[in-house]
Amino acid sequence: MLILNKTAGVFSKPSRRRTYEFLRSFNFHPGKLFLHKLVLGIETSCDDTAAAVVDETGNVLGEAIHSQTEVHLKTGGIVPPVAQQLHRENIQRIVQEALSASKVSPSELSAIATTVKPGLALSLGVGLSFSLQLVEQFKKPFIPIHHMEAHALTIRLLNKVEFPFLVLLISGGHCLLALVRGVSDFLLLGKSLDIAPGDMLDKVARRLSLIKHPECSTMSGGKAIEHLAKQGNKLHFDIKPPMQHAKNCDFSFSGLQHLADRLITQKEKEEGIPKGQILSSAAHIAAAVQHTAACHIAKRTHRAILFCKQRQLLSQSNAVLVVSGGVASNLHIRKALEIVTNATQCTLLCPPPRLCTDNGIMIAWNGIERLRAGVGVLHNTEGIRYEPKCPLGVDITEEVGEAAIKVPWLKMEI
Ligand code: KG4
Ligand code: ZN
Repeated sequence: MLILNKTAGVFSKPSRRRTYEFLRSFNFHPGKLFLHKLVLGIETSCDDTAAAVVDETGNVLGEAIHSQTEVHLKTGGIVPPVAQQLHRENIQRIVQEALSASKVSPSELSAIATTVKPGLALSLGVGLSFSLQLVEQFKKPFIPIHHMEAHALTIRLLNKVEFPFLVLLISGGHCLLALVRGVSDFLLLGKSLDIAPGDMLDKVARRLSLIKHPECSTMSGGKAIEHLAKQGNKLHFDIKPPMQHAKNCDFSFSGLQHLADRLITQKEKEEGIPKGQILSSAAHIAAAVQHTAACHIAKRTHRAILFCKQRQLLSQSNAVLVVSGGVASNLHIRKALEIVTNATQCTLLCPPPRLCTDNGIMIAWNGIERLRAGVGVLHNTEGIRYEPKCPLGVDITEEVGEAAIKVPWLKMEI
């Protein structure tokens, strides 16, 4: 039985009494039968400590999450050792809460699935070592999970989406377009050449000091930009989308970030406002940056749809585009994508916001998918390591660029 020894920060063997209390805390009913396979999912790849128990049919039996957003907002970004310490302090409680809520005892689990790649090394390490101890203790199979694959497959927990489908993953750390052909069969069509859109929005929000804005102080950067943009005019500043002449599906957001930075500096001078205070034109800047990012994302996605249809990788009339990741909860970006899917006769599907951001459910569900397909289920965890960097699938971004598909102009009336 694992009990986190908080002072030492390591796991220790507890007394019999504490073991009994720990088991009792799961409301374990002897004789209770689960008809479906059950997977415990554990996520610690970045700044959320999350866990969930999901069954084979997609029922979420229990979940728990501890977000570090507020702490990292204060330091102006994620400080890896701080994230690691917060994961250490919370993982035992979060896993226990998810199991208790599901009324499942660890012995009833079919497997334990945990994010092992990609992500922050120090954060991944906490989830992996905690999971390996649970695996060892309860003699369960272990399913290592790729964080981006889990984001991509989450939609299948909610909707009957058959392979293949196109996925756009947009978050704070990632930005990619991929064709999902199977549970562990991905073709990478495009990726960000520099930073991810969430990272760009976080940086612009920080430069605009939105943490000092009474309506946005507890929001992530992206959410704060979306909130403020509603009060601004997206056409107040004329900002051109990046990479207009590159006929591939790659993305770039650092140019937009620097452009926003220069614009803010110029406005600070004009308005006579020192750095660190909120500009009167902040809402217009937020709206223009958000709209430019939305148009850029929409254009690259449009090209990916056309490429897949041209190569018969996607159905001509029945194609599905799934959008996930933290930035996918942005309604302005979703509307831009809706314009693209309407023009290309595709169906646009987005998981609900709580499943777009990092969570334990997507990890547990990926575990279920892998159990059902019989891929990547380990009965021996010797040599298992976390991998901070790990690309998704087979990279065909060059082939996509060589196809140089011209994308018809669409009116982005959002
Ligand atoms: O998927 P996620 O929780 O974590 C990873 O990056 O993997 O995404 C977090 C990112 C942050 O950059 C945050 O600013 C952004 O998603 N985000 C948003 C919104 N909500 C969160 N960006 C734009 N609009 C939102 N409503
Ligand atoms: Zn994520």
